[in-house]
Amino acid sequence: MKKGRYPLNSEKKTEKNIVWHHATVTRERRETLNKHRSVILWFTGLSSAGKSTLAHAVEEQLHQKNCRTFVFDGDNVRHGLCKDLGFSAEDRHENIRRIGEMSKLIIEAGVIALTAFISPFRKDRDQIRHLVSQDDFIEIYCRCSLAVCEQRDPKGLYQRARAGEIKEFTGITSPYEEPENPELVIDTEQPLTECVDRIMRYLYERGVLRLST
Ligand code: ADX
Repeated sequence: MKKGRYPLNSEKKTEKNIVWHHATVTRERRETLNKHRSVILWFTGLSSAGKSTLAHAVEEQLHQKNCRTFVFDGDNVRHGLCKDLGFSAEDRHENIRRIGEMSKLIIEAGVIALTAFISPFRKDRDQIRHLVSQDDFIEIYCRCSLAVCEQRDPKGLYQRARAGEIKEFTGITSPYEEPENPELVIDTEQPLTECVDRIMRYLYERGVLRLST
């Protein structure tokens, strides 16, 4: 990784001659139109813990309730927006920073952003938490033991990491820092429907969705 390829702290590069333009169609007006609040549902956990599966299953439920949603998925985003990034701590930081900024725009658009990234470092996740309002960030820890993730291994990556073919693999040769105070801990070793129900109940309790939704 060449130093200085991208700014480590986006604020360092803030242009002085740029003025924020205020929209007349505001987030509040969009939320009223949509009949739900927009939030970031940040799914974090080991590879193969079920983050994407769960995010898409929750999205399906939300869509059926006429909610505006979008899922950002690590493997997909790394084919485009983040294809220049690898898996060093520095690159993962930049990956998460970009997704955080993208999610911030998405919630301004009145859409519920569901993000499925390993996001192994606490400070990177906390940076996103502080990028938006307290009410806007819902951290969902998809808890699944390394043993079960390795057993699932749908892409054969754990096997390759154990064989030394993939460097800095999360859980094997790169750390995963468990969230300390996530809004939700979901045991993703239990059936998917139970995981989805728990999250949907939480969204009602928290007022993201209204009972009429
Ligand atoms: S993150 O750490 O920067 O949040 P991200 O979620 O975007 O990672 O990408 C993780 C996906 O990339 C994994 O599900 C796996 O398919 C793939 N991958 C490839 N190399 C690695 C690696 N070294 N560590 C973890 N995941 C990897």
